Amino acid sequence: MVNIAVLGYGTVGSGVVEVINTNHESINKRANEEINIKYVLDLREFPGDPVEKVLVHDYDVIVNDPEVDIVVEVMGGIEPAYTFVKRALLAGKSVATSNKALVAKHGPELMEIAKEKDINFLFEASCGGGIPIIRALNSSLTADEIDELTGILNGTTNYMLYRMSTAGCNFEDALKEAQAKGYAEKDPTADIEGYDACRKIAILSSLAYGKFLNYEDIYTEGITRITPEDINYAKEMGMTIKLLATSRKIGDNFYAMVAPFLIGQESPLYSVNGVFNSVFVHGNVLGDAMFYGSGAGKLPTASAVVADVVDEAKHLHRNIMTNWTSRPLTLMQLDEVEGRFFVRVKGTTLQQVENVFGEVQVISLKEYPDEYAFVTSNMKQGIFKEKALEIEPFMVSMIRIKD
Ligand code: HSE
Repeated sequence: MVNIAVLGYGTVGSGVVEVINTNHESINKRANEEINIKYVLDLREFPGDPVEKVLVHDYDVIVNDPEVDIVVEVMGGIEPAYTFVKRALLAGKSVATSNKALVAKHGPELMEIAKEKDINFLFEASCGGGIPIIRALNSSLTADEIDELTGILNGTTNYMLYRMSTAGCNFEDALKEAQAKGYAEKDPTADIEGYDACRKIAILSSLAYGKFLNYEDIYTEGITRITPEDINYAKEMGMTIKLLATSRKIGDNFYAMVAPFLIGQESPLYSVNGVFNSVFVHGNVLGDAMFYGSGAGKLPTASAVVADVVDEAKHLHRNIMTNWTSRPLTLMQLDEVEGRFFVRVKGTTLQQVENVFGEVQVISLKEYPDEYAFVTSNMKQGIFKEKALEIEPFMVSMIRIKD
């Protein structure tokens, strides 16, 4: 028997208990062990819930119990999660977590402790909800030098953009819907400002490139400035707007960013709608691959957490997470990165715009007679910024184009 303790009985924690109870037969078969929930830690009481029988309020009970093999941390946030996880690992207990903030900030240290103790610190659910992307990067794509990761990594914002585009919802209503469905973070600022996607691309990039990408180094822009007008222009262009988290290796240099992008129908990410997440990976021998699935919500996230528990039960005294060192990954200046830019302007002529940018592609919509939009040719971001200064008083919005 393998005993586990679940820290936190919120959305994901209750999902973990539900998944283990619902699928216990197949889970035990796959783990080749009986997975037993010995404790659930939460400060609250849950009268009438069967979890009451295993509910504890004091973490010391768990960390001091030599019968607990695996600790499942699904509390979220940095503290007390970090202290609890570190103590569990130091006590020789493997940890499975869904906590991207914890992994993005303390991942290298926690993985180092797990390595020293020959146990595991696994975090499949921290990126892409139920999509098995961490396992793929860690153990399937090991023949490749990966040179691009581009993902739709936040279910809340993808759901919101989809609802704004298809149902004409405004930003606030779309956010309320996503919160009601249990997709959003406790404080949805992390979703809508891109911070959640930023931590996820930092984790995935660290695994893909084998060095620690500090999330604080990643340029991050959310979707709060995206308007129905932008969405209508996108439709007119046969494109859609997605919040992309991307990192690329160009020669010996790397860049990473999170921002809304216009993407065309030829992109495999175009059709990733609703709460779904997707990660596009390019490897030097593999070529293109894409991973797709439910990116947030109670059961998809719990599915990934429980998969880690099964893996840990199968490898109780053998460390299996390999390709992440604490050597820092240094990023190049974004100003050096090339791309095309979509710009909406008001009160300036096409002649003035082309005097600055050269030939551009123009898009005008009859609904907005006072303005028009244009798409630049390919140029470095630094050059775009310099040119944009010249028409700044007339600029309404700018969105990058994903080529
Ligand atoms: N708030 C996150 C999202 C939850 O919307 O994707 C899953 O990490």
